[in-house]
Amino acid sequence: MTALLHALETRRARRALSSEPVSRGDVETILAAAHLAPSCNNNQPWRFVVVDEPEVLAKVKEALPGGNYWAKPAPVVLAVLSRRDLDCTLSDARDYFLFGCGMAVGNLMAQATEMGLIAHPIGGYKPEVVKAVLGIPLEYVVITLVIVARPGDPSSLSEKHRAIELGPRDRRPLDEVVAWNRFAFADPPPA
Ligand SMILES: Cc1cc2nc3c(=O)[nH]c(=O)nc-3n(C[C@H](O)[C@H](O)[C@H](O)COP(=O)(O)O)c2cc1C
Repeated sequence: MTALLHALETRRARRALSSEPVSRGDVETILAAAHLAPSCNNNQPWRFVVVDEPEVLAKVKEALPGGNYWAKPAPVVLAVLSRRDLDCTLSDARDYFLFGCGMAVGNLMAQATEMGLIAHPIGGYKPEVVKAVLGIPLEYVVITLVIVARPGDPSSLSEKHRAIELGPRDRRPLDEVVAWNRFAFADPPPA
């Protein structure tokens, strides 16, 4: 196995977090990795608001629903934002800003894993609260919050989350998501 594949296997959506600080230097390193991502026409549509001041962090965490209780100890939260018009908008609904930001976050997660950090993206938050707390203009999309922390104690987790944390990786077989030379997927019809 290559070193990169090993790192990607090591990355998990960890939820057991320590509240110990993560330095601004470490945050800058993972952001540098994110910023090396490719983008359509090199538009670099990603914008990151780094939240590490305790008072601001506490207010951002008020945007989390109960199911994301596990993120509360995190010393750093990254808000990833963009706008449709900051990247290519091509035919057939190919609005590339989400894709570009996804690739940037992919780089960021891989680098964080290499550094022994957890970088867990979430979609479960109230975007209007995040925008209000961080002064983000309404026309931006808060695509994800990345929860950044050092690993913590799984006993802090709910039973369900502890089972996921300590259990095996859950992925469909590769041949369910890869076809060679012709479309051959058994996806249900669109809702
Ligand atoms: C866009 C996105 C949104 C997610 N939202 C949440 C979330 O709100 N809460 C949570 O606990 N995990 C969230 N996750 C983590 C996924 O549940 C996790 O990545 C998935 O179950 C696969 O697990 P793995 O990353 O350990 O392979 C999110 C992941 C992504 C990429």
